[in-house]
Amino acid sequence: EQIRKGNFEHLLQKEIHEQPDSQTMTMRGRLIRGGEQKAKGILLGGLKDHLKTIRRSRRILFIGCGTSYNAALAAIPVVEELSGIPVTMEIASDLLDRQGPIYREDTAIFVSQSGETDDTLQALEYAKSNGALCVGITNTVGSAIARGTHFTNAYTSQIAVIVMLALALGDDSLSTQQRRTAIMDDLYNLPSKVRDVLKLDKDMKELAALLMDEQSLLVFGRGYNYATALECALKVKEVSLMHAEGIVAGEMKHGPLALVDETLPIIVIATRDASLNKQQSVIQQLKTRKGRLNVMCTEGDAEFMCPDRTCRIIEVPKVQDCLQPIINIVPLQLLAYHLTVFRGFNVDQPRNLAKSVTTQ
Ligand code: G6P
Repeated sequence: EQIRKGNFEHLLQKEIHEQPDSQTMTMRGRLIRGGEQKAKGILLGGLKDHLKTIRRSRRILFIGCGTSYNAALAAIPVVEELSGIPVTMEIASDLLDRQGPIYREDTAIFVSQSGETDDTLQALEYAKSNGALCVGITNTVGSAIARGTHFTNAYTSQIAVIVMLALALGDDSLSTQQRRTAIMDDLYNLPSKVRDVLKLDKDMKELAALLMDEQSLLVFGRGYNYATALECALKVKEVSLMHAEGIVAGEMKHGPLALVDETLPIIVIATRDASLNKQQSVIQQLKTRKGRLNVMCTEGDAEFMCPDRTCRIIEVPKVQDCLQPIINIVPLQLLAYHLTVFRGFNVDQPRNLAKSVTTQ
């Protein structure tokens, strides 16, 4: 067991800190670099022959559970942007409950770290029987690594893989070429940026110490980082056994605002992208209600986001908007980890949960 943990106290902690390496592995052989340090293209071996069919599909559906669902949700905007195809998300069990419509013209993409989750496998059978083109994004099925890990590095790797899929789907378009090159360059630099953001470990430990006795935590995100809010809340629930809720910030005024007072801790994800102004106004409204604010912003933005310095700030490095969720989740994973240790729960064996849910 100690060999598996290496120099770390817990496996989860090791996984969080190994993400620069898992990102490098994810991109190896897939992100092909050209001259002058510039990325040149994307090579997705297994999908090479299917890209044309996917480009012709009427709709792309991403299907998964838990963290895998969240990873696909994080990558939806860039798949829509670069493929021009409508994209929808399905929670595997909900799709099955509804027997939702799936057609031959659909591409159904199944996201599962273990490749063994029963709900996801059943949804795959269902989509196949409806004639959809079915694609899987998973670690090696059956591998001990896939079964023995916590899914933290799976989350960030799955997002990177789906972004690469979006790039591959869009690579016949001239109009998005500049954008695609910018994304590929940032993908290349991602492992070093993840390494940078891991340096927030001490800050997140401090924040965890402040929050350890709380009952509940709200996390607001939107756009590219709605999924970050959901995934932060899922991890906090799953390992630290604290109630947490990820909320799409646009819905704040439609209910959750009523919960806000000076005691309930809140995290607002407000890194730079097209919805920054809206997030600033969310922060303003939360301040008016005396909310206990922790704001995640882009490096250098602390003053600008919270001029009166009443918020606790988590500053993260900037990358292309569609890759920002990969950076933003890392400090929140560290928060969930430290919360768990402080609260005295078993970090490496979450209560009531199986690593792979192979039953219904
Ligand atoms: C279980 C785990 C979750 C995980 C989900 C999907 O419920 O507790 O952490 O996200 O399964 O797992 P998969 O292997 O399909 O990605």
